[in-house]
Amino acid sequence: MADLESSLLQALNAQEVIADSGELAKSLGVEHIVLVGTIRSLQASEMIVAEDIDHFRYVLTEEAQGYLTAGSPEAQVFAAVPAGEGISLSELKAKVPGEAGDVGFKQAMQQRWLALDKSGAGEPRVVRKVESIEDRTQQLLADVAAGKDLAKTDADAAKKRKLVKPEQWKTYKLTKGPKFALERKKPATDLTQEMLAKGTWRTQEFKDYNFNALGVPPAGGQLHPLLKVRSQFRKIFTQMGFEEMPTNQYVESSFWNFDALFQPQQHPARDAHDTFFLTKPAATPSDRGVEPDYLNRVKSVHEAGGYGSAGYGYSWKLAESEKNLLRTHTTAVSSRMLYRLANQPGGFRPAKYFSIDRVFRNEQVDKTHLAEFHQVEGLVCDRGLTLGDLIGVLNQFFSRLGLKKLRFKPAFNPYTEPSMEIFSYSEQLGKWMEVGNSGMFRPEMLRPMGLPEDVNVIAWGLSLERPTMILYGIDNIRDLFGHKVSLSMVRKNPICRLGL
Ligand code: PHE
Repeated sequence: MADLESSLLQALNAQEVIADSGELAKSLGVEHIVLVGTIRSLQASEMIVAEDIDHFRYVLTEEAQGYLTAGSPEAQVFAAVPAGEGISLSELKAKVPGEAGDVGFKQAMQQRWLALDKSGAGEPRVVRKVESIEDRTQQLLADVAAGKDLAKTDADAAKKRKLVKPEQWKTYKLTKGPKFALERKKPATDLTQEMLAKGTWRTQEFKDYNFNALGVPPAGGQLHPLLKVRSQFRKIFTQMGFEEMPTNQYVESSFWNFDALFQPQQHPARDAHDTFFLTKPAATPSDRGVEPDYLNRVKSVHEAGGYGSAGYGYSWKLAESEKNLLRTHTTAVSSRMLYRLANQPGGFRPAKYFSIDRVFRNEQVDKTHLAEFHQVEGLVCDRGLTLGDLIGVLNQFFSRLGLKKLRFKPAFNPYTEPSMEIFSYSEQLGKWMEVGNSGMFRPEMLRPMGLPEDVNVIAWGLSLERPTMILYGIDNIRDLFGHKVSLSMVRKNPICRLGL
């Protein structure tokens, strides 16, 4: 190609103008199409200017090639008819068979070269009407083959008979471009230190930016470690037959986050120091989604107790329960789901639910605390469940995580009784670590919802961040979640394997 390029540039330099690149291709002994590549590339670098020359001509069809020597079909048919007595139609067909015979006969009749004589008995005979003919069609085809132009009427007729077809092509008129040179200078793509040091950047030609070029494709999406651990937790829960709860609602009313859980309205967790309350909209009217009867039962259990409880003995305020907040725990979702379970059409049925999603707390941010984090929560709702069931389910759940040694310590939650903190022995760290919190939901929470008296709920919760930090060896939570996370950490972290 380089040879062709330099031949072209030299020819142009010598002649100043190349009137037709078709001629140049011939003189260089290459197909014009090969030269076109060189022309385009020189044109793109403004070394030459190429103006289109449009060409058009008719060429013979394959069928017509045959008539060039054998004569047109009409001439062939005429020749097959003997002067004088003529020939029967069937004999003629045998002498000039096929398409050429049919077309030729029709044409010869139209030209009045032949006639049909039906006067005799039997088959009509084809006879000559003229002594001799001139094969104009054949001459026309010869003209086309020789590259001569056709009169429009002739061209149209021949096209209609599918004897010729049009052919179009382009050649170029070439002149020197603004950057004409006998040899192509390769423009630099980068400014180098050497160009700066030697000052050659002043005269160096640089390649233009190609803003249409495709960029380097981003190397796919990567799962954050929290998402990897979450999918492992999901697997464990689903293998144990748990259904996932819908946790897509970050904003909750205080009612579902606290009141439904028998958390008194003056509880310190319900202070703005611990909870993010919304200012807009500041409240969810209780008639949006809470049955008045249920609301009243919750109010009365807080104030006066019931179901074997003495209650808190304070005056419960509707307005306090309507305050919107960012949910402080996923137990808000559990309370909605348990209420739904108690009141579904067809009545109560046992259920095993889990959720893994984000919660928010107004906390001082430090190495181990964030204002938003994720909770993993599981619950089993069934008749006659005991603390033994809770311990059994926790042992099963945590052993699937690889935490086989568990210990429980009595604890307190407003909504569970008994409550237990869960500890596990870490072989890695050589000590007992708190891994979660659990308990059996109180009757003060379950009975107002309408769950049957013999139904108990065992439940537990843990953060998603804690096990993730241990698994991935991250000791500052801010390196795991939030604006300080390094993207390369996300890109490079390995797959998550629990239970090893
Ligand atoms: N909601 C508790 C928390 O936020 C976790 C928990 C869930 C405790 C279920 C007991 C039962 O820490």
